[in-house]
Amino acid sequence: MTSKEIRQSFLDFFASKNHKIVPSAPMVIKDDPTLMFTNAGMNQFKNIILGNDPIKYSRIADSQKCLRVSGKHNDLEEVGHDTYHHTMFEMLGNWSFGDYFKKEALAWAWEFLTEVLKLDKDRLYVSVFEGNPAENVPFDQEAFDIWKQYVSEDRIILGNKKDNFWEMGDQGPCGPCSEIHIDLRTDAERAKVSGRDLVNADHPQVVEIWNNVFMEFNRKADGSLEKLPAQHVDTGMGFERLCMAMQNVTSNYDTDVFTPLIAKVEEITGLKYTNNQQPTTSNQEKINIAIRVIVDHVRAVAFAIADGQLPSNTGAGYVIRRILRRAIRYGFTFLNTKEPFINKLVEVLANQMGEFFPEIKSQQQLVTNVIREEEASFLRTLEQGLQLLDKVVAETSGKEVSGEKVFELYDTFGFPKDLTALILKEKGYTFNEDDFEAELQKQKARSRAASEVATGDWHILVDGNVEKFVGYDQTENEVKITRYRKIDSKKDGILYQIVLDATPFYPEGGGQVGDKGHLYTHEGVVEI
Ligand code: ALA
Repeated sequence: MTSKEIRQSFLDFFASKNHKIVPSAPMVIKDDPTLMFTNAGMNQFKNIILGNDPIKYSRIADSQKCLRVSGKHNDLEEVGHDTYHHTMFEMLGNWSFGDYFKKEALAWAWEFLTEVLKLDKDRLYVSVFEGNPAENVPFDQEAFDIWKQYVSEDRIILGNKKDNFWEMGDQGPCGPCSEIHIDLRTDAERAKVSGRDLVNADHPQVVEIWNNVFMEFNRKADGSLEKLPAQHVDTGMGFERLCMAMQNVTSNYDTDVFTPLIAKVEEITGLKYTNNQQPTTSNQEKINIAIRVIVDHVRAVAFAIADGQLPSNTGAGYVIRRILRRAIRYGFTFLNTKEPFINKLVEVLANQMGEFFPEIKSQQQLVTNVIREEEASFLRTLEQGLQLLDKVVAETSGKEVSGEKVFELYDTFGFPKDLTALILKEKGYTFNEDDFEAELQKQKARSRAASEVATGDWHILVDGNVEKFVGYDQTENEVKITRYRKIDSKKDGILYQIVLDATPFYPEGGGQVGDKGHLYTHEGVVEI
């Protein structure tokens, strides 16, 4: 089956079990202070689970774009080096809000995997929560008994709080969970070592594919667990891993989710990617890692931009910029790409995913342009920065580079510290984190001081709150200043805020740039 067919069969299956199929929520989150990016399918349903929002549909299924690059669930450093972690990935999920619970959820998961997709039962293992007396959460006997109807007991693994108690973040909905793992090794390998021993052991071919969470609690800010008003089911299946299992390959990157992107990188660079079945040398492996990093990261960056998050120097925008810079740098060092090229992958991505995620198609041009600009500007500084880093390393006695120097690279060349750390690691060096942090704090204090503003009191000239917008019909009119105040800004100098009784000026807001113009008085002209 193609990845497209696999995704569709999941949605069709749950539609046949009376689930409402909904679109993916945006990957960028704007209204939840505890999260920057969607990191699980349930994020968009958080308030339903907590009992704050009404239940519109009690059964839902979708494929959600997720990004795990910050906070509690962060896979960034693994990406590219292994073959089954991603920054952006799709999570296939089904939910019950106060409707069905463990019995149906596990039965349907099993039915879908073994009867619809016909995955080999002998390769599947399941896990249930062993319990945690300290938190007063018991062993999940119910899930254990349900699984016994489908698999032999030696395929049921008891898991601890880390593996089998799922939490959205430090706060929020959580509960015991039951995972399904698949063993994709060869028969010979399976005969030697049981898959059971490799579950949750970071083996690239014995991986978790589906997590069924039984939402029963809310983790509060003080760390305590509070029982939820109702019980819910929240499941998440790693789409790319499922494709790996279905397409008889042993790396997510060998599925048709990634092969078109890889082919494009090969075409642009003239280099070859060797898949998991082919022999590799250490130099080839570096090329492979770089290609994996690039085809993974372009998806995360492209979808983030399509969802409205441009790369920038702060917050979520900075996370996106760092991901893109990581990809650019891998290309620069290992694929010898000295010109922008990652933007050319957007077209492939849009053709491949645009049908299911129309935003990538409708925003294709913007996404391409933004990535191209970012690439061009980072490539300009990358070369200089790498030379400087070589010099710093040459001047370092011992194996630890000074934190001040790493900060200088960050400040002057926009080198994220984890990028510098990565390059240094390849050369066998580390750097002093504490000194870096100290420099960063000093700089923050400097920029705080620079952005200080002293705001004066309002001077009222006309009493009452008369403010009328006349700009729909007029671009000029007679006005009175009703009040004003002085702003003394270290950064911008002396400014005045003035309020008019009627104004044709449309303000900046909602993505619109504020109007410009002039205010004519008897004494002179004021620029606005
Ligand atoms: N919310 C669960 C997860 O992300 C399903 O694994």
